[in-house]
Formats: sequence, structure tokens, C-alpha cells
Amino acid sequence: MARVAIVGVGAIGGTLAALLEVTGRHEITLCTRRPLNQLTVETPDGVVTVKAANVTDSSLAKPVDWVLVATKAYDAKSAAAWLPSLCSENTSVAVVQNGVEHRENFSPFLKPDLILPVIIECPVERNQVGIVHQRGPARMHAEAGRQGSGFAQLFSGSSAKVELTDDFLTAAWRKLCINSAGAVTALTMKPASVFHDAAVGEIALGIVAECVAVGRAEGARLDDSMCQTVLDAYRAQPRDSVNSLLADRMAGRPMEIDTRNGVIVRKGAKHGIKTPLNQMAVALLQSLGGNHTS
Ligand SMILES: NC(=O)c1ccc[n+]([C@@H]2O[C@H](COP(=O)([O-])OP(=O)(O)OC[C@H]3O[C@@H](n4cnc5c(N)ncnc54)[C@H](OP(=O)(O)O)[C@@H]3O)[C@@H](O)[C@H]2O)c1
Repeated sequence: MARVAIVGVGAIGGTLAALLEVTGRHEITLCTRRPLNQLTVETPDGVVTVKAANVTDSSLAKPVDWVLVATKAYDAKSAAAWLPSLCSENTSVAVVQNGVEHRENFSPFLKPDLILPVIIECPVERNQVGIVHQRGPARMHAEAGRQGSGFAQLFSGSSAKVELTDDFLTAAWRKLCINSAGAVTALTMKPASVFHDAAVGEIALGIVAECVAVGRAEGARLDDSMCQTVLDAYRAQPRDSVNSLLADRMAGRPMEIDTRNGVIVRKGAKHGIKTPLNQMAVALLQSLGGNHTS
């Protein structure tokens, strides 16, 4: 049994809660900004009702064995406000977010060796507060080591697949290659069908090529074939598939544009690598202003 707190109970946080719930072993606390009367997750294996404590005031949270942070990456600072109450010296913090900056984002608030970066693949939406629709299986990559093994153990007995890797950097940049190309859907306000347009496909290939170049400079092992692999994967999706960047733009929510494309521009500049396509995507999406970008 482990005491597990989840900070950020949206689509991914809700899914993680349901996966922990089905193991029947853990004491779960849901840390939310507003009261959450119930959490129901429609999973591919049936509906799971999560039995958990709910805390909305970070000062009232109690120390746990594990904190799983599943906010959007741009909410790292406000998510970190929970950590002083939730963490004792033995607490591990898994950051389950997109991007390649899990440690950078949380190291101002925690000792870096307490942070376990995790990448998740899982098609899931939260259309209403407390109701999450998980459309497919959850697959996670975490850094191999003592914390990674402990994290995998949390989910043992659930349908989640947790793969431990000695090369998390490459796993994270591979996922970033996929996510970076998603910008074309948010720019065009069109679902995955837009990748079938030959000219848009060329732009997607170029966005990923910049990501591959910067990822390699950072030390990730990325093949030249990555660009075409990403485009083929988008073209194989149902034509009406909507990625989370587009879903956020359509809903008027902030987008993770800095986490998915801005980081390629920032890290590219550090290595002297030009990233004009990502730069354009970031500039155009950020020009929407207001609530749209972070
Ligand atoms: N959804 C997917 O299919 C998917 C797939 C793979 C990876 N990811 C990644 O997983 C991460 C989470 O994405 P998501 O789709 O789950 O986002 P989401 O549905 O928007 O959920 C984020 C949740 O974090 C909460 N939150 C923000 N700041 C908080 C704070 N200070 N304290 C407590 N809760 C806070 C939000 O609360 P409110 O309800 O109050 O706004 C929201 O419920 C992102 O990095 C995303 O890119 C998502």
C-alpha cells in the first residue's frame, strides 16, 4: 500500500487515479483547485469510480509516499505550491507531463533526485469536471532506477504499461517529435485529416526535422526516419482525431505551445540551430494572446 497524491486531476490525473484505484492497494488523495465531489473514469475496461480523499487547500494536505503531478506543464509553479505539505524526505514526485523539461520545471522547488520524469501516451479527455473518458490504453516511460521501479510497482495489477528506460532523454524527445508536428492542427483548426494535404505534410516533416536536430544536439538518439514515421502515424489516425493542442485552442484554454514547440526554438538557439518552422508556429499561436498560450 502506498499513499499517493495526484496534483492536477484532469484527463491524465483522472486516468492515473483510476489505474491506481483498480489495483485496490493505495490510499489516494486528489489535490484540486475546486472541490471534486466524485471522479468517474470511463476506461476501455469499464467504468471506474475512484474512492479518494479530496483536498483543495494545499496547506491542509498531509505527507504521502508518492506525488504524481499531472497538471499542464505551464502550471508547474502553481502545482509546486502543493509540494511542501505533501512531501516528507522520503516522498518521490513523478512529473507526468509532455515535453522534455520535467526536471528543469520542478528543480526550483525540489531536489532534482526526488523528481521522476514520466512520459505518458494515452488518448483521454475530460469533458466535464469529475468525468474522464479514456479512449485507449495508458503507456508510460519512466527513468530506470529505484524511483522508476517504485513508480512501476504502484501500477502493478492495473492495465497501465510502465516501461523503464536508461535513456529517458531519447524517449522524451521522441514524444516531442510527435507532439511538435501537432502544431499544424492547432494552426489550421483542423483535425488529423490536415496531414493528408501534401503541402501541410511537408511543413510537418520540417517541424519534426528541426526537433530531431535539436534533440540530437541535446543528446537524444533520433533516426533520420523519425520525420516520416511521425507523418505516417498522423496519417494513420482517424481523420477526425483532435490532439490536445487543438482541443485546448478550440476550448479557449491555454495551449502547451511553449512545452511542445517553444522548447525546440529555445534549445535550438542554445546550440546555434535554426528552427524557423517551430518559431513561426510559436509566434502565430502566441499571437492569439489572452488565454490561448502559455
Ligand atoms: N490528455 C491527453 O490525452 C494527454 C496525453 C498524453 C500526455 N498528456 C499530457 O499530460 C499533462 C496533463 O494533461 P491533461 O490533458 O490531463 O490536462 P487537463 O485535462 O487540462 O488537466 C490538468 C488539470 O490540472 C489542474 N491544475 C492546474 N493547476 C493546478 C494546481 N495548482 N493545483 C491543482 N490542480 C491544478 C487543472 O485544474 P482545473 O480543473 O481547475 O483547471 C486540470 O484539472 C500535459 O502535460 C499533457 O500534455 C495529455
